[in-house]
Amino acid sequence: MALDPDFMKIRSILEKHHDYWSKSIPLIASENVTSPAVREAAISDLVHRYAEGWIGERVYPGNQYFDEIEELCLKLLKEIFDAPFIDARPISGVVANLTVYTAFTQANDKMMAISIPVGGHISSGPLKAKTGAFIGGTAGAVARLDVDYIPFDRYGLNIDVDAAIKAIKEKKPKLVQFGASVFLFPHPVKELTPIAHEAGAHVNYDAAHVAGLIAAKQFQDPIREGTDTMTTSTHKTFPGPQKGIVIAAREELAEKIKAAAFPSTTSNHHLMHVAGLAVAAAEFKKYGVPYSKQVIINAKALGQALYERGFQVVCPEKDFTESHTLLVDISNFKDAIGLGKDVEERLEKANIVANRNLLPWDIIEKRNYKNPGGIRIGSQEITRLGMKEKEMERIAEFFKSVIVDQKDPTKVATEVAEFRADYQTIHYGFETTRKAYEYIKIA
Ligand SMILES: Cc1ncc(COP(=O)(O)O)c(C=O)c1O
Repeated sequence: MALDPDFMKIRSILEKHHDYWSKSIPLIASENVTSPAVREAAISDLVHRYAEGWIGERVYPGNQYFDEIEELCLKLLKEIFDAPFIDARPISGVVANLTVYTAFTQANDKMMAISIPVGGHISSGPLKAKTGAFIGGTAGAVARLDVDYIPFDRYGLNIDVDAAIKAIKEKKPKLVQFGASVFLFPHPVKELTPIAHEAGAHVNYDAAHVAGLIAAKQFQDPIREGTDTMTTSTHKTFPGPQKGIVIAAREELAEKIKAAAFPSTTSNHHLMHVAGLAVAAAEFKKYGVPYSKQVIINAKALGQALYERGFQVVCPEKDFTESHTLLVDISNFKDAIGLGKDVEERLEKANIVANRNLLPWDIIEKRNYKNPGGIRIGSQEITRLGMKEKEMERIAEFFKSVIVDQKDPTKVATEVAEFRADYQTIHYGFETTRKAYEYIKIA
């Protein structure tokens, strides 16, 4: 049977994409790779369906089996996160945050979160900077919240507790949101939540990056530390399909969250990813603890190995990180190579995928997000590929070849592909004969 030329073209590009990832070192801190079992669920018939409303109360027919899946998904997630209520309808981390804003705030309410230059995410950002410059953060631009920043110790890479206590007491926000996109150390939730509650705030913890580590009890436990809700993406350290969830610490918050998730912030809730998330949750229940432990061990080992090879990995005095993420100040390579954009591009030519990132002090140095002074690295996806401390040394050597020794990156790409040949299956997932980045043809 002859295939349509447009379809063949699309398929061949997809095959190249899969082949590229099978030969690269994936170090983006906000991504992960799902297991073949999750991918199977994600290409089921659910890719076509709607299930508006709550389980058993849908306003769409045809959901008798999907109801069973969503129920099972929530049961597994509630077990993993040890929480009384979860809504898995937000389609991403941003939408999960928007669901919380919708449920617990009103336009013009004050919100406090950490700022983007020190590692905060755009979804907790204001509409405009104090200077009037457009930022377009979801909290300001969509939920119309008046966003102020939680004071941050830019060199210690964490919230400044004393200054934050003072600021929360003074500003009396309606919402305090912890969490970050450069999230190296647990936030002082225990210290600040009582102060925020006293000031009348709802407290949310954006666990997008660290949800897997939290579920495995390897980072911090925001719900037991006092937060009211926790939002997260399901596809960073938690190795599920792309989606978002809202977790409530108390059952009584459920109705507000449910009403905000539907009809306010979702209609179609990407049912195939609810099924994939159910499978990912089942895998996590079995393998989540050893996986998360290794993620952190690998991040620390990679931090040390890079540090020993001349990379200014931040916070060496704190063992670099307590999570999956490393932040590297690459400004010492400014003359030889350039800044974040240039280093990112050079690494990419060597099939090493890590993104440029603002350093908390870039603003002082007059650098911006387009070509910042840092590179962010995540250890979660390489851990899923079965890599351990020994492989972190190899990866640091590749970094050295490309950046310190300035070897031709296209030559290093060949060595990277050879190295990757031994790491082609997903670990910490259900057994399978499929490869991690296999392109599966069904047409
Ligand atoms: C802290 C934080 N919150 C929210 C998000 C948004 O998640 P998503 O991309 O799933 O919408 C991210 C994404 O990287 C993030 O880092």
